[in-house]
Amino acid sequence: MTILDIIEKKKKKIELTREEIHYFIDGTLNKEIEDYQISSLLMAIVLNGMTMNEIVNLTDEMLNSGDKIDLSDIDGIKVDKHSTGGVGDKVTLILAPLLASLGIKIAKMSGRGLGHTGGTIDKLESIPGYNVELSRDEFIKQVNEIGVSVISQTGNICPADKKLYALRDVTGTVDSIPLIASSIMSKKLASGADVIFLDVKVGNGALMKSYDEAKELAQTMIEIGKRFNKVVICILTNMDEPLGLAIGNALEVKETIETLNGIGPLDTTELVIEIAALVVSKINNIDVEEARVLCLKNIHNGEAYKKFIEFVNAQHGDISKIEISNRVLSIKAPSTGYIKNIDALGLGEIARLIGAGRLTKEDVIDYSVGLELAVKVGDKVNVGDELIKVYINEKDIEMNKILDCFTIVEEPTEKPKLIYEILD
Ligand code: URA
Repeated sequence: MTILDIIEKKKKKIELTREEIHYFIDGTLNKEIEDYQISSLLMAIVLNGMTMNEIVNLTDEMLNSGDKIDLSDIDGIKVDKHSTGGVGDKVTLILAPLLASLGIKIAKMSGRGLGHTGGTIDKLESIPGYNVELSRDEFIKQVNEIGVSVISQTGNICPADKKLYALRDVTGTVDSIPLIASSIMSKKLASGADVIFLDVKVGNGALMKSYDEAKELAQTMIEIGKRFNKVVICILTNMDEPLGLAIGNALEVKETIETLNGIGPLDTTELVIEIAALVVSKINNIDVEEARVLCLKNIHNGEAYKKFIEFVNAQHGDISKIEISNRVLSIKAPSTGYIKNIDALGLGEIARLIGAGRLTKEDVIDYSVGLELAVKVGDKVNVGDELIKVYINEKDIEMNKILDCFTIVEEPTEKPKLIYEILD
């Protein structure tokens, strides 16, 4: 067998065997296959797709390419939650302590920001002192003692995916459902949870731009889960406008604290409560309505916030030291009307440009900068009303670029639907 035979086969849309996929992943890891040959096969997969058997085999090969986390020392059912990435998505920070306050174990490994989307680990690191690198024993001990820990993905989980992802990023081969599904699921399966909850984002600020694509991705990941005997639940949610009001690391932690205290933005609160209720209902075998009441109760009685503080303190974070830049610019509405669109992708890129994200792997994030919306789609504004605050430090930004992210029309506009569908 040679890699050229495999590329030729995929070019002709012929299903690859398990042995061929093994040969490809093995050769990728051992550097026996050249980057240009890997990229060529990836492009053939983007163009010609993969059968479900091929996707499952690719997932399994990537899953077995590195370490697998054994969470069996943690009592009870372990839950993992993953978002396919969006702008202003701070759900994990709120959901993890909320679920832990209801007795559900969250042993979570998260990533850093990718492209215009933020990462949970960067957000947590905006809390001075927060340690994202616990040893395995410390991680397990913390989850057993307080029910929740969020750490950075360790070095050797799915190294084959790491290599492929880096190549995909620079060869125009990211947007393929078989490649995305196997990439996400190999890492989730390696992370050892019993229940995997996936928030598949749809829209201009997400990887999946259309509802149909997002649904196909969700169904593919659910099917992979079934083949590995894991419970996978997917929620399809809107990412045309940013989630909540805050974009940027420390600002998103501030919104997390507000939401855990019952005073967060409506959409952030709705999404967290919906996901939490689905998880609680699945694990405790109760109906979703009953689960929702339990989740809301733990927000209103302060238990979820208490758990957040306990969790952050356990990892040496100190929320009293969080810094938000005090150089603040206010962008005002140029006309009277209704907000029709807030460009999530555009604002995500602006947040990255002012230092909230990285443009190169080596960039150092400025945790104190970001954006804070004063309006959401569907709101009425008068000329001169504030649209957004920009928290900025050294890096400047053209105001017009920010204004271009807002579409104001004369006719009233509707609030977009946040949650499209739940699949399992
Ligand atoms: N996130 C991943 O982990 N992998 C992809 O391919 C896309 C998003």
